[in-house]
Amino acid sequence: MRRRAVDPRRPSRRRFVGWIWFLLVVSAVGGLTLVAVRRHQVEKLEPPFREVNATEITAQYQDFNLTDELLSSTSFARQLADQMTLAKAYLVIAKEHHNLKFAWDLSSQIRNSQRLLAQAAVRGKPVTQDEAGPMITSLSQLIYKAQDIHYDLATAITTLKVHAQAMEDRLTAAMVQSAEFGRLAAQGLPRSIHCLTIKLTEDWFGDPKLQKLEEDQKNSPRLVDNSLYHFCIFSDNVLAASVVVNSTVSNADHPRQLVFHVVTSPVSFRAMKAWFLTSSFGGSTVEVLSTEEFPWLRKLRRDMDMASLLSHLRFYLPEIAPSLEKVVFLEDDVVVQKDLTALFILDLHGNVNGAVETCLEAFHRYHKYVNFSSPIISSEFDPEACGWAFGMNVFDLMAWKKADLTARYHHWLRQNSGGYLWTGGGTLPPGLLTFYGSTEPLDRRWHVLGLGFDPEIDGRLIETAAVIHFNGNMKPWLGSAITRYLPLWERYVNHTRLHLHGC
Ligand SMILES: *[C@@H]1O[C@H](CO)[C@@H](O)[C@H](O)[C@H]1NC(C)=O
Ligand SMILES: *[C@@H]1O[C@H](CO)[C@@H](O)[C@H](O)[C@H]1NC(C)=O
Ligand SMILES: *[C@@H]1O[C@H](CO)[C@@H](O)[C@H](O)[C@H]1NC(C)=O
Ligand SMILES: *[C@@H]1O[C@H](CO)[C@@H](O)[C@H](O)[C@H]1NC(C)=O
Ligand SMILES: *[C@@H]1O[C@H](CO)[C@@H](O)[C@H](O)[C@H]1NC(C)=O
Repeated sequence: MRRRAVDPRRPSRRRFVGWIWFLLVVSAVGGLTLVAVRRHQVEKLEPPFREVNATEITAQYQDFNLTDELLSSTSFARQLADQMTLAKAYLVIAKEHHNLKFAWDLSSQIRNSQRLLAQAAVRGKPVTQDEAGPMITSLSQLIYKAQDIHYDLATAITTLKVHAQAMEDRLTAAMVQSAEFGRLAAQGLPRSIHCLTIKLTEDWFGDPKLQKLEEDQKNSPRLVDNSLYHFCIFSDNVLAASVVVNSTVSNADHPRQLVFHVVTSPVSFRAMKAWFLTSSFGGSTVEVLSTEEFPWLRKLRRDMDMASLLSHLRFYLPEIAPSLEKVVFLEDDVVVQKDLTALFILDLHGNVNGAVETCLEAFHRYHKYVNFSSPIISSEFDPEACGWAFGMNVFDLMAWKKADLTARYHHWLRQNSGGYLWTGGGTLPPGLLTFYGSTEPLDRRWHVLGLGFDPEIDGRLIETAAVIHFNGNMKPWLGSAITRYLPLWERYVNHTRLHLHGC
């Protein structure tokens, strides 16, 4: 009797388990559908970003003479125009998705901004901060909302992750990495970082003291002092950049001797400035620049979207820091764990780029990255040459300029205009070609890779690493990170500060 009483429950439990699997599969399919939708959106999103430029905006106001103001990277008119560009892009998307209410909100805000620019032109006086501030804030909020809708892929992944929590990290890893799924998510920023960016932008406009502070710092002799240690970071992720700077400073013997040069997108520019001006990083200096400040970038700005542009900035280090002799380049998905100043006195043996090699046990040789069927490649490169990694590199800018490697980079970009030498917009293939024969291999403990995809890295290797790198799709700021590695990044985030901003 007893046995019989137990038995009937079994099938129902099995049915329950079956339901869980069913839900998992349904959510996975849903996620993939979202990917498809999102990809569709991305395709539609790109042209408006690329097409609209300052000249075109100016052309719309030909009746008024705003040319000068719109071309100045610091004017409020320009900042407003930047926001309008973004807002217009989202307006197109909103209309396509029949989100008419939102489209109406966007277009009325765009009209308000246009009116302000027109008024300024008529009265012949520049747009002031008081006028532009509130308008930029409301545009930012709309853009944030748009991105919020646009980025719901990240939400889908988080949901999946919750469903999958019972599984091993490795399984989660496989899911998140599967095909396009993770790659697309990794390109987006989560909602909390967008929120932080908006809040910080508001801080910037609301606090004249910040702007004064910024003015004072702009001409600091420390920025060009070659007796100090200079680091370059290119990112539009405030939190990630902050972790890179904070971890570098926290592990430095003499933080006051460090200078950081952060280059970011025009949209994140003011947020980034507000963040670094109001945090103390052990007396180090942090300079924040916008891609807009480099006139020579104009051609690239036309050809690439912002994310690619920021990642390709590494090929312009001598242009970005013309008076510096040596810099350490850090990607925004690294965490520094040791004092890095020894890198600056390391003998590069006349080479330009100090990097860790990646062909040690794996097979990351040149033939994996570029097309050796092409005679242009096979006549110049050794297919078995060892690959190396970007992420933490020391660059001798004097040797770089002497060898004119930026020209070599342009040469290889031109050669690949048909996409036959390598595919994709990544920086590694052109990097391997540009720095071929001028790369000095570093001890691998300087830079340990794989924390964004490999759950089985040796713990001692991570512990002794000077720099750890979350390359791969599972970024620590996405909520999809490998649990084991997350604390290594999180410990450099001041959560009190984040909560202060309500994000
Ligand atoms: C902006 O667009 C116009 C028209 O499409 C083009 O002629 C001009 O070269 C572009 N300017 C920049 C700076 O990209
Ligand atoms: C706009 O004003 C500047 C001087 O501020 C002048 O040099 C320029 O020619 C004017 N442009 C037009 C289109 O009137
Ligand atoms: C590699 O180069 C050869 C010769 O230029 C070309 O025919 C081939 O299409 C290229 N392969 C790819 C994948 O682009
Ligand atoms: C920097 O990292 C330290 C831990 O070393 C942490 O206590 C601090 O809050 C961080 N600061 C910021 C601004 O995130
Ligand atoms: C974290 O941020 C808060 C607010 O800005 C600040 O008061 C506190 O000192 C910071 N903590 C650390 C450890 O840096």
